[in-house]
Amino acid sequence: MRIEQLTHAVGAELTGVNLADAVHDDGLFVEIRAALLQHRVLFLRDQELSRAEHVAFARRFGELEDHPVAGSDPDHPGLVRIYRTPEQPNDRYENAWHSDATWREAPQFGAVLRCVECPPVGGDTMWANMVLAYETLPAHVKTEIADLVARHSIEATFGANMPIEKRLALKAQYPDAEHPVVRTHPETGEKVLYVNVFTTHFTNFHTPERVRYGQDANPGAADLLRYLISQAYIPEYQVRWRWKPNSVAIWDNTATQHYAVMDYPPSHRKMERAGIIGSKPY
Ligand code: SIN
Repeated sequence: MRIEQLTHAVGAELTGVNLADAVHDDGLFVEIRAALLQHRVLFLRDQELSRAEHVAFARRFGELEDHPVAGSDPDHPGLVRIYRTPEQPNDRYENAWHSDATWREAPQFGAVLRCVECPPVGGDTMWANMVLAYETLPAHVKTEIADLVARHSIEATFGANMPIEKRLALKAQYPDAEHPVVRTHPETGEKVLYVNVFTTHFTNFHTPERVRYGQDANPGAADLLRYLISQAYIPEYQVRWRWKPNSVAIWDNTATQHYAVMDYPPSHRKMERAGIIGSKPY
């Protein structure tokens, strides 16, 4: 297996590897897992994976989960279909910086995404290294956010354009989650800046040190949250990947955020994602 770093910040391309082999080859899987923790996103070309092999490879990292809004392949539970075709022009969820499912109590550990069909040009995906984003924050910001907790909501995002009954039913099934703004990576011990498009507000900002009058709370907190969320937009933390059919990306969903660039309609883009269940952030 050869590993070629793609940017200084994040991402490496693996060559000389067939992911289907890693379903049964423990040594190969251990190497891939170690590379993932080091480079945070791994990219591979020409992976002729069947759907069953895709799921079996991702299952080596942990249990898979479906998505309450995006449907899964009926024959392969856990394999979420991210299909954008002229028949689904308004389904635009993935072109915002996010890490998957932070609205869950235990957001995903990672994901394995395969390109089934891609536009002739466009439809790239970008990732940002949120460990580097945290490390590079000014010292006074690190102090300010050290103990902050924030709310993450599926209702405010996937639910936003639903009729109210459907939106409230979604919220009842998936209540908002609260996570530390600075999370510790469970495998590497690194600190991660952990707010994204699913984050609605801080839940413990309102202290006498920060808030003199009620009016201070919202502008102060909202500006700080917007600033923190915008760190993922900084190009020096990013990598951008051009898809071809049978290209695969494997990402560490704790340490990174991603953004699928929606510059290709009316062309089709069909991706399949196996999302791996993670642990409660601390
Ligand atoms: C996702 O947001 O998980 C999907 C990314 C993509 O479709 O490129």
